Amino acid sequence: MFFEPQKRDKTQVPHDVFKGLIIPRPVGWISTANKSGDTNLAPYSFFNGMYSWPNILGFSSEKKKDSLHFARETGEFTWNMATWDLRENMNLSSEGLKMGHSEFEYSGLTPEQGRMVRAPRVAESPASLECKVTQILELTDIDGKKTSATVVFGQVVGVHIDANFLVNGRVDAVKLKPIARCGYNEYIVIKEVFMMERPPSAGNPFGGGD
Ligand SMILES: Cc1cc2nc3c(=O)[nH]c(=O)nc-3n(C[C@H](O)[C@H](O)[C@H](O)COP(=O)(O)O)c2cc1C
Repeated sequence: MFFEPQKRDKTQVPHDVFKGLIIPRPVGWISTANKSGDTNLAPYSFFNGMYSWPNILGFSSEKKKDSLHFARETGEFTWNMATWDLRENMNLSSEGLKMGHSEFEYSGLTPEQGRMVRAPRVAESPASLECKVTQILELTDIDGKKTSATVVFGQVVGVHIDANFLVNGRVDAVKLKPIARCGYNEYIVIKEVFMMERPPSAGNPFGGGD
């Protein structure tokens, strides 16, 4: 089967397949604070690491959401790892609460003061990355028309990692049990990893900062 996205036959393919194909998408569980001290927490699956050194990551806000407003206002945000144990809390934090009502309390989570940024981290999460905003990019389509998406990029300026999840000096993915988004209402949890060495000339497998 082949189709152009705008010409999809909805009787044959009732739902857009894009989110079902770009899988699994790691959860960018983004915490922010504004200058008045209001805090915000929300998951973004249009999220990923973008560059290895310096460490740069980005999340995409479809329409102008509070995480975008707060990150723009302060130039700061924090990524928190969503794990199997925190899946219900993560889901609750996607509720669009009114300004002044924090998703931390609503989702049963503890805000822990940031070290390098004013955004609090999720204390229950085994890993967080404190970030300073590097770029904010409004996405356009192939006709140059603005979409409703705005991508916020940030450079990591602080790393929190529960040392229990560092085994032999490496992050233990199976122990962490991160969850990631698939299509529709599907998620995946890491229960198994497999190893594959890169070809000898392919470079450093440990990434930017070694
Ligand atoms: C797993 C998951 C992934 C999500 N990914 C995105 C995303 O990539 N972009 C987006 O705009 N909203 C996404 N959402 C919805 C936002 O989390 C939701 O709109 C939230 O209320 C935004 O909060 P805020 O306005 O307080 O920033 C996602 C929700 C869930 C549960």
